[in-house]
Amino acid sequence: MKIISVVGARPNFMKIAPFMRAIEKHNAGSGPKVEHLLVHTGQHYDYQMSQKFFDDLNIPPPDIHLGVGSGTHAEQVGNTMIAFEKVMLEERPDWVVVVGDVNATLACSVTAKKQHARCCHIEAGLRSRDWTMPEEINRLVTDRLSDLLLTPDTLSIENLRQEGVEEEKIGFVGNIMIDTLEEQRARAAALKIDEIVRQNLLVNGSTLPKIEEEKYAVMTLHRPSNVDYEEIFTALVYFLTGEVASDMPLFWPLHPRSQKRLKEFRLWDRVMEHPNLVLMQPIGYHDMLRLNMSARLLLTDSGGLQEECTILGTPCLTLRWNTERPITLYEHGGASVLVGNNVKRVQEEYRKALQRKRNPVRPELWDGHTAERCLEAILKASER
Ligand code: UD1
Repeated sequence: MKIISVVGARPNFMKIAPFMRAIEKHNAGSGPKVEHLLVHTGQHYDYQMSQKFFDDLNIPPPDIHLGVGSGTHAEQVGNTMIAFEKVMLEERPDWVVVVGDVNATLACSVTAKKQHARCCHIEAGLRSRDWTMPEEINRLVTDRLSDLLLTPDTLSIENLRQEGVEEEKIGFVGNIMIDTLEEQRARAAALKIDEIVRQNLLVNGSTLPKIEEEKYAVMTLHRPSNVDYEEIFTALVYFLTGEVASDMPLFWPLHPRSQKRLKEFRLWDRVMEHPNLVLMQPIGYHDMLRLNMSARLLLTDSGGLQEECTILGTPCLTLRWNTERPITLYEHGGASVLVGNNVKRVQEEYRKALQRKRNPVRPELWDGHTAERCLEAILKASER
């Protein structure tokens, strides 16, 4: 059997690493082998956004790199489809495995189906019901086309049932990202926070505030809905500099999109000059995990970080109005509270979150063995 797995952007890498290891383990056994090729579409290409994750998570270099790069959504999806179709014609895999909800996920699932390969979606069934999010479109199309939909939680199974997906196509496997978290936890725990910060400063030589465990906040922000609108981004930056960073050191690894916008909206000097707000380059997997482990609070619009906060128990303010990951929410037992991007609401929830204690929880099957279940499900579905 031949499988092609696809990665394109930063959040894909920690999901594919355990899947590739599960294949390796399977192939070390006595049964029929699985032939595997890794395709990188090249949506993320900076060292810090891509190669660093291959190095840190020990992912072998991609067998095929499509070199698609940046562009509008249509450009990224279109160019990926054109390049991936050639791969499909050449390699003729039995299965294409896509993860998550990025443009690579959509482009390669569509191309796979048009070439009559079977498609497996890992992280199927998540729904924000917000069709203005590009990721929601990617999730809907990919799930509609996939032959095997592997879900991280039972709420996602319900979403798929409601959409009429046949029961035999759905598999409940747990959260594959948590496989990576559990595998890397000890290595991350050994890192020193002040060294992580020092080594990743955006501007070398900046003076650092005093860093103490459980007495700092971490922020990541990259969604167009937060950073592409001057009025919204400006209000958020004023809240961060005026309030959060005056309470405690705030570490902010900057996504390339947000860095561009800070400069464009003339917010750069304000964030650079604040003594307690520390701007960092995008940081590696272990560095982020370590910062998260001892943070007083996370502020983020990332889906993956919401999940990691749930397992680690870090109080998390999610700067979005909706989430495709309700299982991470406080009301479902998780660590995250949706605060949108209205500063009044963010302020209110920020005060409440400071009262909360670290409270780790583990949703069903977020046990570090999801990748093995994914491969088993594919092998079983191949017999059908
Ligand atoms: C993509 C995903 C999003 C995911 C995020 C994680 C889609 C639709 N979105 O959004 O779901 O949460 O990745 O980071 O697939 N850029 C660089 N260097 C890079 C990559 C990008 O400078 O290595 C720049 C691009 O030129 C662009 C901006 O960053 O201006 C955004 O990159 P893009 O790949 O379009 O989407 P993300 O916002 O990263």
